[in-house]
Amino acid sequence: MPRPTQLPAWKALSAHYDEVCRLHLRDLFAQDSQRFHRFSVLFEDELLFDYSKNRMTGQTLQLLLRLAEETGLREKIDAMFAGEKINRTEDRAVLHTALRNRADRPIHVDGEDVMPGIKAVLEKMRDFSRQVRTQAWRGFTGKPIRAVVNIGIGGSDLGPLMVCEALKHYSDPGLAVHFVSNVDATHLAETLRGLDAETTLFIVASKTFTTQETLANATSARAWLLAALGDEQAVARHFVALSTNTAKVVEFGIDAENMFEFWDWVGGRYSLWSAIGTSIALAVGFERFEELLEGAFAVDEHFRCAPFAANIPVLMGLLGIWYTDFFGAESHAILPYEQYLHRFPAYFQQGDMESNGKRVTLAGETVDYATGPVIWGEPGTNGQHAFYQLIHQGTRLIPCDFLAGALSHNPLGEHHPILLSNFLAQTEALMRGKSAAEVREELAAEGKSPEAIESLVPHKVFPGNRPSNSLLYRKLTPRTLGMLIALYEHKVFVQGAIWDINSFDQWGVELGKQLARAILPELQGASVPGAHDSSTSALIELCKQWRRD
Ligand code: F6P
Repeated sequence: MPRPTQLPAWKALSAHYDEVCRLHLRDLFAQDSQRFHRFSVLFEDELLFDYSKNRMTGQTLQLLLRLAEETGLREKIDAMFAGEKINRTEDRAVLHTALRNRADRPIHVDGEDVMPGIKAVLEKMRDFSRQVRTQAWRGFTGKPIRAVVNIGIGGSDLGPLMVCEALKHYSDPGLAVHFVSNVDATHLAETLRGLDAETTLFIVASKTFTTQETLANATSARAWLLAALGDEQAVARHFVALSTNTAKVVEFGIDAENMFEFWDWVGGRYSLWSAIGTSIALAVGFERFEELLEGAFAVDEHFRCAPFAANIPVLMGLLGIWYTDFFGAESHAILPYEQYLHRFPAYFQQGDMESNGKRVTLAGETVDYATGPVIWGEPGTNGQHAFYQLIHQGTRLIPCDFLAGALSHNPLGEHHPILLSNFLAQTEALMRGKSAAEVREELAAEGKSPEAIESLVPHKVFPGNRPSNSLLYRKLTPRTLGMLIALYEHKVFVQGAIWDINSFDQWGVELGKQLARAILPELQGASVPGAHDSSTSALIELCKQWRRD
């Protein structure tokens, strides 16, 4: 594929940027009463994607859509859904969409239909979650399970954790689900404090079953269990594994019977739809987990089939490229006005940054354009009282996604209308801003002197013209959540496809792991002279000294 920057559409967008960057959103809305209708998509009467508050015109959209065509996005989407090995550096297919394929369409990898295997694991998850939730599955001493501890990290933690938090309204209060990820023993110790080994079930979630943090936590958890129950046989009733690596699971001491399988074509950060979602099924029941899959499947079909001009993930991805590569935006904020989604931005930090934090093309050439932005965010309204100042009046352009449900699971007094009014006000304020004339008028009405007014005006002006998308859904159900997650996954795909990078490997996390393996024995024993730079060596020595003191 030619470099994206060499494509006619990219060049046209560069020229077009010079015109658009001078336009103000306030004027664009004033000039076009149909702007919202032209730049919004309603999906299944459940979710609205409003992208009208973006710094774009109809021509911008046409050029971005042309860019999608010129980069072969359609063929790339088809290749992913067909199970082609698009993760070239790992020679793997990318088939998280197969995990939620509710259409009974066969999907082949290396000539074999993967659907029967997927269905078999889903049935095993259904059966297991039912047994635990109905107390048919008992601990070693015969007591029912009251607490589940998912031990995993990265994709084996962030996805199920985010979903369990998001669907807390649906969770069984008699079965607490905890997540331990950090190798800092504090995480495990504080989680286990107050738990009873007799009623605790550990889920060791690791695609590779070689991840240092997860194995360290699982080993300590097993020791905790055995110290309390005093019998190796207890492990079979209190430990299950979610993995692609049967040999390592068995080597760790978990019976293969207690393993829920998935496959190398499921990327870690796309794995919550697989056996990695077992903690979700335990928390909210398998039927809710299936509803989550169904929501994602509905979006998969939309992504696969809808024309690009009405295709929400395509539009989300293209707008991100418009800001990253033409406006020079360096970050993108995800701002859920929904407390249940408080881990959604953190989840998509991995989803987006581990996927598109790449600096070479699929062919291995260094890119000459910006790729994945920094993803960040916190729930509204908390963020308003923390970092929104910078978004409104700082020097950086930060495109924002606002997510909100029209209905709340907790309709308490005026809380929800207050929450919604804040969401709506923020998108409006970012778009309109407040002009010097408006500030002067306000201050004069407050009775300020002309001198006081002039000294305050620069501080109180909001430039506006700050872009945002709004994703408004009816209510946060498992199905809606499945839709939201799939929309963002596909947005990441669109951007990776256009940037011509591999969104599905993560070699950038390897070097630190390698060096940590080399440093660990030095921390515990003799240092290796000349093995490190002077800073790292001095830090190692001081750690050792303070640990000895
Ligand atoms: O550190 C990167 C990574 O490989 C992630 O991509 C993955 O989600 C995480 O580690 C955990 O890996 P595993 O599930 O194999 O333990």
